[in-house]
Amino acid sequence: MKDVCIVGVGNMGGAMLDILESHKMFNAWGCRKKDDLNVCIGRAEVVVFAVKPQNFEAMVKEIEIDLDDRLIVSIMAGISLERLKKSLGSNNVVRVMPNLPLKVGKSLSGWIASPETEEYQKQFVKTMLRCLGDEIEVDEESKIDAITALSGSGPAYFYLLAEEISKAAQEYGFSEEDANLISESTLVGAGALLRSEGVAAKTLRERVSSKGGTTEAAMKKFGEHNYSKIVSIAIEAARKRSEELNKN
Ligand SMILES: NC(=O)c1ccc[n+]([C@@H]2O[C@H](COP(=O)([O-])OP(=O)(O)OC[C@H]3O[C@@H](n4cnc5c(N)ncnc54)[C@H](OP(=O)(O)O)[C@@H]3O)[C@@H](O)[C@H]2O)c1
Repeated sequence: MKDVCIVGVGNMGGAMLDILESHKMFNAWGCRKKDDLNVCIGRAEVVVFAVKPQNFEAMVKEIEIDLDDRLIVSIMAGISLERLKKSLGSNNVVRVMPNLPLKVGKSLSGWIASPETEEYQKQFVKTMLRCLGDEIEVDEESKIDAITALSGSGPAYFYLLAEEISKAAQEYGFSEEDANLISESTLVGAGALLRSEGVAAKTLRERVSSKGGTTEAAMKKFGEHNYSKIVSIAIEAARKRSEELNKN
């Protein structure tokens, strides 16, 4: 399998196309609004749908060819495996929830395949998603809502903390530019170290928090103000919202 058509070359589809084009193992092309959808998907073994969920049904109406022998991959939020199967007439469907770092080849993509999807097709999806970053296959579709709340919205949680660090830096008299550099560099450095050490975040946090030191003083305040509870409440709100949106 090699021939991949990406329908919807926007933020996510465009980034995905750039990455797949850079790997020789794929022959990838995009299908834009102005292109003939049936010609574009007609010669593909794998069709990736990356249009906005609200444009999905209108796009389906344009499809005249039989897709039942194709592998369908959808990154559209809130469109279930069942709906994909019914609308597209293929049983080999895979639902993927990537996140925005896909734009720099560092997505975390949670995915699930329909039970009819063949093992070799699942292997293909795994390989493709690994070119975009990391991947996790989930064992039930409801976990796509959890993935949406955890890694889908996750970058914003870290950005919020980075924003607060930058604000604090400005309060201490740093220029906006320096303050942003302090928070950005700390976020990127902490992430890179976490990846290279290959240990849990908790282990690194404990290593940084020496007894009686500055980090420990900060950690105590996070604890007193229930940081852990706030984060879990926020993530659960995102998961519930994803569940609600998926029902529509
Ligand atoms: N952004 C994220 O962080 C994120 C994360 C996970 C999943 N997703 C999912 O990824 C999908 C794409 O999101 P996005 O942020 O990349 O949206 P986007 O930038 O709006 O991209 C969608 C693209 O699809 C095009 N399009 C619409 N109808 C089409 C048609 N009939 N044929 C061909 N192309 C068509 C749009 O063209 P026009 O602009 O001309 O309408 C646009 O270029 C969504 O379903 C979203 O749920 C996004």
